[in-house]
Amino acid sequence: MDKFVIEGGHRLEGTVEVSGSKNAALPILAASLLTDKKCVIKGVPPLSDVNTIANILRGLGVSVTRRSNGDIETQVKDESQCRAPYELVSTMRASVCVLGPLLAKRHRAEVSLPGGCVIGIRPIDLHLKGFKSLGATVDIEHGYVTARATRLRGTEMFLGGSFGSTVTGTANVLMAAALAEGRTVIENSACEPEVQDLCEFLLKMGANIKGVGTHRLVIEGAAKLGGAEHKVIPDRIEAGTLMVAAAITQGDVTIEGCRPDHLGAVIDKLSEIGVAVAKEPSRCRVMGPQKLRPTQMTTLPYPGFPTDMQAQLMTLLSLAEGISVVSEKVYPDRFMHVAELNRMGADIRKEGATAIVHGVDRLSGTTVMASDLRASAALVLAGLAAKGTTQLTRVYHVDRGYEKLEKKLESLGARIERQVDKRLVVLGEGPPARGRRAKRRP
Ligand code: EPU
Repeated sequence: MDKFVIEGGHRLEGTVEVSGSKNAALPILAASLLTDKKCVIKGVPPLSDVNTIANILRGLGVSVTRRSNGDIETQVKDESQCRAPYELVSTMRASVCVLGPLLAKRHRAEVSLPGGCVIGIRPIDLHLKGFKSLGATVDIEHGYVTARATRLRGTEMFLGGSFGSTVTGTANVLMAAALAEGRTVIENSACEPEVQDLCEFLLKMGANIKGVGTHRLVIEGAAKLGGAEHKVIPDRIEAGTLMVAAAITQGDVTIEGCRPDHLGAVIDKLSEIGVAVAKEPSRCRVMGPQKLRPTQMTTLPYPGFPTDMQAQLMTLLSLAEGISVVSEKVYPDRFMHVAELNRMGADIRKEGATAIVHGVDRLSGTTVMASDLRASAALVLAGLAAKGTTQLTRVYHVDRGYEKLEKKLESLGARIERQVDKRLVVLGEGPPARGRRAKRRP
């Protein structure tokens, strides 16, 4: 398992380009199951989660190829398979997104239940409620969901639970409804930019969807969908993480290719903390202040503050002058980063789904362990600001959702090095990284 070695205390400066959104790309790739025509998806980042969905699609008879220019081309070749196995689904929950398209197009879907993960229990009851409303029969046996329907029928449904709307649940039911007979109304649908992007892709395929970007989607089912070409939106969470990297190092960083309009709540919170953010339609300049102000924040479905930025913001607040309160209303157990941040000298106390953050003067480097994607990103940020050296183990979590994070940070002046696990080298996974040390800044 690779690790990052980060020498903290270096100011970030310069310009960095944001990659395409992982969470938009995954359901869009799954939507290619809805047609036998060719689809071309641009801007899909080369991440391990993208490889996982590609492998699931290949197992379902889809040809998935990455062209030399980076575009991904998909085309269904064989519709006889309807099963997504545990071995793949268990490595990435978003694999559950193939349920809706398989059910609508092949009339049967067998997908392993993804199970819980470190950020919480994460049930899929709302996805299944949506499929049942559309007339499917759904059985759970031997750890697999089996859904069947000869033809799905449009209906009205309310898709919400104790924690509000569901992002992949909306995506799944929306994809199924796109080929159902008649009109489907999804009340309380998620309106995250990634769901909007999926709608845009489906519209290009010939779907009829009204209410894109709202909490009420109205879908007139089509008999058939065609191929489409689409560029996924920029990754708002990667952009937000880079903003915090600039802020926490008192840096001055321009983030190119981002969508500030997708980051309203994050930019608002950063400004409250004292970070200067200058917005243009597809770029942001972020300047970190000498002193950070404490704040209160609560994660909520879009357009509220995203849970996927909670750990990163908490890291920033751990260095603010005063007490901050962070409440998690999407995943009440998503606090795996707290213990590791405290090992680096932060003073954070968790009470239920809330964390009380007493700002400290500095963090200090040590060995910490990545536990999930966003917690890992938060620990990288802590390492950038900490005194001394931080070693972050298990960086495969980072690799699931950030394209070349260490390279991007290094290009801005961070001293961060990936150390490749020698055991992988023995297994033939590639040459070891040379024992390169980042150049000292003058
Ligand atoms: N929920 C239910 N029942 C369901 C579905 C969800 O109770 O059937 C609950 C969840 O347990 C959670 C809340 O509803 O408390 C919201 O979950 P949601 O379904 O919206 O999450 P998701 O679709 O599984 C996506 C992102 C997550 C992100 C959440 C919330 C993808 C692939 N994943 O997950 O991203 O945190 O929405 O915005 O799009 C990440 O990128 O690090 C990540 C975890």
